[in-house]
Amino acid sequence: MSKSVELARLIRDRAGQAAPEYGLILGSGLGHLSETVQGTAIPYSDLPGFPHAGVSGHVPQLVIGQLEGRRVAVLGGRSHYYESGRADAMRLPLETLAALGCDRLILTNAAGSLRADIPPGGLMLLNDHIAFAGTNPLIGEQTDARFVPMTDAHDADLRAAILAAAQAEGIELPEGVYCWFSGPSFETPAEIRAARILGADAVGMSTVPEIILARFLGIRCAAISVITNMGAGMSDEAISHDHTKAMAPLGAAKLERILRRLLRAA
Ligand code: HPA
Repeated sequence: MSKSVELARLIRDRAGQAAPEYGLILGSGLGHLSETVQGTAIPYSDLPGFPHAGVSGHVPQLVIGQLEGRRVAVLGGRSHYYESGRADAMRLPLETLAALGCDRLILTNAAGSLRADIPPGGLMLLNDHIAFAGTNPLIGEQTDARFVPMTDAHDADLRAAILAAAQAEGIELPEGVYCWFSGPSFETPAEIRAARILGADAVGMSTVPEIILARFLGIRCAAISVITNMGAGMSDEAISHDHTKAMAPLGAAKLERILRRLLRAA
């Protein structure tokens, strides 16, 4: 039996049999939502092969249960490429979601904005991305399934539903392109200028490898950035992980309202 099928069995034994309708991956400082899910929390340490170390600001546990009347599976922590040099670090958690029968995924992250009209505290819905980190989580995959089309990586129906939820909540949700940098160092001002020329609206260190893996597994995706700062060189504010964690809750409250509305409406 494959590892993910075994893990799905273990998770069903603890959290119940029903398939989650939505998977959620929560970014830095955005973990509050998982505390409000009524269900079963399983620490990653109980799930062999799930990432352990993690980054401060993340809660490394899987919570399965009800949120606004929908069954959800919330991944409270993610492993980033920069932690291990492995772009496929989230492959097993995503395979496990797929094995649980979850076919929709909403990803969240903290990001730097490249647009003056999307300031810190604001949100951005990804309508596309640029994989700028120079690697791909499917390198080494042997099957022809590795040739994943990415044209519809950011699912049109899911995005429309998220935009409608934001509008219903009266929350501004501009759309834009997210550019994946490897991190863990932040970008230089020249890299930020380059990303702007390339067509990016925000920069961050996550999400893109997870979307590639999720599409490989047939999971539909949408992603929302919580803007914690302007890109390097665009403002006088110093950029740091502490600043990211301090700023994330500003946007997180709005993000939570959108996601709750989305689940209620779905
Ligand atoms: N760059 C990369 N990742 C980030 C940033 C940033 O400016 N802010 C939050 N995550």
